[in-house]
Amino acid sequence: VPVSSFDFVVFGGTGDLAVRKLLPALYLRDRDKQLTADSRILLVSRSKESVAEIAERARAHIPDDLFDDGAWKSFLDRTQHFALDAAHDAGWAEFENALKPRSDVVRVFYLATAPDLFGPISARLKTHELITPNSRIVLEKPIGRDLASARAINEAVGAVFAEHQIFRIDHYLGKETVQNLLALRFANSLFESLWNRGSVDHVQITVAESIGVGTRAGYYDKSGALRDMVQNHLLQLLCLVAMEPPTQMHQDTVRDEKLKVLRALKPITPDQLGACTVRGQYRAGAIDGAGVPGYIEDLGGAVSRTETFVAIRAEVETWRWGGVPFYLRTGKRLAERTSEIVIQFRPVPHNIFAADAGPIQPNRLIIRLQPNEGIELQLMSKDPGPGGMRIKPTNLNLSFAEAFKIRYADAYERLLMDVVRGNSTLFMRRDEVEAAWTWIEPILEGWTRDDAPPKPYQAGTWGPAASIALIERDGRTWDDDGHDD
Ligand code: BG6
Repeated sequence: VPVSSFDFVVFGGTGDLAVRKLLPALYLRDRDKQLTADSRILLVSRSKESVAEIAERARAHIPDDLFDDGAWKSFLDRTQHFALDAAHDAGWAEFENALKPRSDVVRVFYLATAPDLFGPISARLKTHELITPNSRIVLEKPIGRDLASARAINEAVGAVFAEHQIFRIDHYLGKETVQNLLALRFANSLFESLWNRGSVDHVQITVAESIGVGTRAGYYDKSGALRDMVQNHLLQLLCLVAMEPPTQMHQDTVRDEKLKVLRALKPITPDQLGACTVRGQYRAGAIDGAGVPGYIEDLGGAVSRTETFVAIRAEVETWRWGGVPFYLRTGKRLAERTSEIVIQFRPVPHNIFAADAGPIQPNRLIIRLQPNEGIELQLMSKDPGPGGMRIKPTNLNLSFAEAFKIRYADAYERLLMDVVRGNSTLFMRRDEVEAAWTWIEPILEGWTRDDAPPKPYQAGTWGPAASIALIERDGRTWDDDGHDD
């Protein structure tokens, strides 16, 4: 079903995100006939590149099997580029002239720029009288670099746009399997009755990447894994696992429940920092058998204490989750690209089998977010055969690719259309962002005070040994490779 006609403006329109994600996503929605014929894409940046040049770079990010020459040409026909400096008032006339006659269509301003420009660009949009009642603004993460800067951005943007017009994007919420968590929990009665401290021993959330910082070193080195991944993506995943059932699938009811989880996160105090957090930085190593340089080499040799790996032991202080640890970890240059949530259930209360039947492993429900999206339930079964009673772990394995046999749309495809539709369920509300920073900030401050460098780990491993120690101290283990891929 086509969405309403729109003008989609991207500030930072020739940058990495626009080229890698936004243009391919809009093209694919257009190819699938979701864009009305008069909808337009207006890229804004300081560069003097032509649409053809930008398009050539974006084309490289569209898989060949999804590429259609005719659809691409017609998409480019509706794409324009305006070379202007969003940080200054000069040079806006042409851009204004293009937008103003179409005050009736949905107008999206997507800010794929550094966060310190969010406030100034919003203000400038107002001065130039470009904000219509049907306008929305999309803010890319990071929203600030701590609580104070996040608040300042929210204030500045909020002075110009109403909260319902502001879409703070976290692309993890647009992933099919992340949304499927809501279906798993709230469209089945099987798990929900076990989804609490009575049955769950602990939860693990892993977002592992095998890539390094690549061309983004400039941004990344100022940010680090805690700000880049944990403050947003991992905490959002934790919220979806831990939240109470919302009364309905409505933008505010869902976000109210997530907010309660963020506010219930147990603060990590300075004396617990060593026991509850680990930060690491990759050194040279090998990924898939090929040698790769370390982080410092990737930066070009500068000295840096930025973490490229984080592991945290978190707790959610509620009746449902009191005492259940949530182990979070994420990093670059890890052994493989894999994101998963593991719900480990409590051990059986009493083992009736003989000692030679083998150990009983606790059940695990594994939600594989990417790649090989699916759900796996690890059960103990009888080892078949006429011999004695032996038990061994077996898996119930649901692969979404096999079950649904359709292409999974990229997270941005869905989220950009949600922006046009005005549905903010999958976007972060101001209070959520600020609650997430409130929990993260003491960790950042503690690390700065502590003045120790991040722990080194070899590229191609699962992070520093301290991350393994973090969970093993509690008598538990990370789920690294114990299941089907
Ligand atoms: C981004 C981070 O938000 O998410 C990147 O800034 C990271 O550093 C990326 O690589 C991971 O996203 P995905 O969709 O590839 O898991």
